Parts: sequence; C-alpha cells; structure tokens
Amino acid sequence: MRQKITVVGAGNVGANVALRIADKELADVVLVDVVEGVPQGKGLDLLQSGPVQGYDVTVVGANDYELTANSDITIMTAGFPRKPGMSRDDLLLANYDVVRIAIEQVARHSPNCILIVVTNPLDAMAQAAYWVSKFPKNRVVGMAGVLDSARFRTFIAQELKVSVENVTAVVMGGHGDTMVPLVRLSGVSGIPLTELMDQATIDRIVTRTRNGGAEIVKYLKTGSAYYAPSAAAVEMAESILKDKKKVLPCAALLEGEYGIHGLFVGVPVKLGAGGIEQIYEIKLTSEEQAMLKKSADSVAELVAVLKQKQ
Ligand code: APR
Repeated sequence: MRQKITVVGAGNVGANVALRIADKELADVVLVDVVEGVPQGKGLDLLQSGPVQGYDVTVVGANDYELTANSDITIMTAGFPRKPGMSRDDLLLANYDVVRIAIEQVARHSPNCILIVVTNPLDAMAQAAYWVSKFPKNRVVGMAGVLDSARFRTFIAQELKVSVENVTAVVMGGHGDTMVPLVRLSGVSGIPLTELMDQATIDRIVTRTRNGGAEIVKYLKTGSAYYAPSAAAVEMAESILKDKKKVLPCAALLEGEYGIHGLFVGVPVKLGAGGIEQIYEIKLTSEEQAMLKKSADSVAELVAVLKQKQ
C-alpha cells in the first residue's frame, strides 16, 4: 500500500519538505496551508516535476484536512519564522495558536500518525503538539538535533577540509542558544575532534553552531533557514517510514532520563516504524550535564508560559 505524509504549512520549510519527499519517492504528499491557493498551486507544481525528475508520487494541496486522512506521518511546519533580531522564543505564543489549531485537526484525521514537529520554538512546540494530539510519547518527535549537528558537521568539515561524510557530531539540548554541542563525542572517522583542532578553534565552531540559525536569518532578513531544516525533517521521516532505526538527535519527551522530567529536549533516539523506539541515555561529564540542565531549564521556562495558556 502507498504511504502518505501530510505536510502542514506550505511555506519555505513545508514546500521544501514536500519536494524532498517527492524526490526520494518516499510517500504521497498532502500539503496543507491556511492561505487559499498556495498549497494547491505548490502541490500542482511539484506534481508536474514528476515526469522530469522521474518520481510518480502524488502531491496535492488543500486548505482543510479531509485529504490528509490516515497519514502515516505528519510533518508540522506551519507557523511564523524569525526575522532579524528575533529569537526563536519570540515566536512562542503566535506559533502556539498555530500548532493548537493544526494539530487538533491532524489528530482527528490521522489518529495513528507519527508527528514530526519543526515549528519553533521547537521543544515547546513539540510539547504543545504532544498535549493537543494526546498521542503516546513515542509518536511525537521534534526536529532540531539533526539540523544542529548538520551545521556542526559542516563547520568541522570546512575547517579541516575533509569530507562531511566522515564527520560525526552530536548536539543535545534545546534548539536555542543554550544547545549543547558535545565536542567529546564528535570527530572525523573515529578521530576525536580534540586531536584535530585546538580549543580556540573548537570554541569558535561551537559558537557558530549555536548561532547557526541566526546567521542565516541575518542574511535572509525576511525569514529563516529552510533547505537544511527540510533535509533534516525528511531524514527523520525516511528513517520512520522505512523502519531504518537510525540513531539521531531529536527532541523527545524525557521522563527521568538525564534527570529531566516531563519535558521535550534533544537527545539521541532510535527512529523506526514505532516512532521513537529508544532514548539513549549516555553518560555525560558533570560539565556536559550542567550545560544540558541549563538548556532544559530554558525550555521549561517557555513550557511554563504555555501551561498558563492551556
Ligand atoms: N495552518 C496551516 N498553515 C499555516 C497556519 C495554520 N494554522 N498558520 C500559518 N500557516 C502557514 C503560513 O500560511 C505559511 O505558508 O505556515 C507557513 C509558514 O511558512 P513560512 O512563513 O515560509 O515559514 P517557514 O520558513 O516555512 O518556517 C515555518 O518552521 O523552521 C521553523 O521557525 C520556523 O516556525 C517556523 C516554521
């Protein structure tokens, strides 16, 4: 049977998610947006790329959720992006309304789907999607760590002039300025990063990774990144649909892991047909644990604001 992915939000991230899904022939796509005509137009345009690109999935756009029924995966990208000078946290209340309205519909039409949340501020929006959908925790996952570690890997490869394919990097914590790039667990073909770079270079790259999203917002001026975010979300969707069981850093509901309770925070997870099939609790140094706690505390502050609005 053909599989179906709903992409909510037909803006920059959503349209590129749909394009990548089609290019990989992963599933049929339903693109949903509130703006009349935009998802329909982009859907048709993507469908007409099929004969040239050689894919024959269907892509269709809509303003309601009827066609999304019984999707296997829903990728939530609807919401406002950042403008220069804004932090992801500045989007909190506006995007909470968007997530609430959309996820209610998603849960009604596709009660068994797996939700991949991309809307920012990511960890808080994943938490909101979890509350609204009432899905079990393994079926709600946030996209952040794959993107943050892709940025970290890019900067490492650039600095060392080596293939990105050989660079592995782990970024944990919330998707914000307090994210935790784990230098100790990052490296090139098994060679620890600390043997390849001096501390000053590592510090510079870590800072650039933390500000990776803001660097792009500053260039674009009217919005935020979408090529790498869409690639990251589709890597997660592919691992789930094909039951690949990739181990990726993603926002997951922690219930005691890393000493964090009832909060979505980025940690390494196994993504397969069951969604989050395992959360890996790796031993952290006390310094790393303190950084993770600080990051989780800043997520908790946002979630506390949302709790008052519930
Ligand atoms: N339901 C469906 N779509 C909606 C809704 C809603 N309730 N509210 C807004 N949208 C749509 C907008 O009409 C727009 O087409 O969401 C889309 C967002 O697209 P962009 O403005 O291009 O933003 P984008 O760059 O795609 O970012 C979307 O992803 O990475 C995050 O921080 C980013 O939160 C932002 C989200």
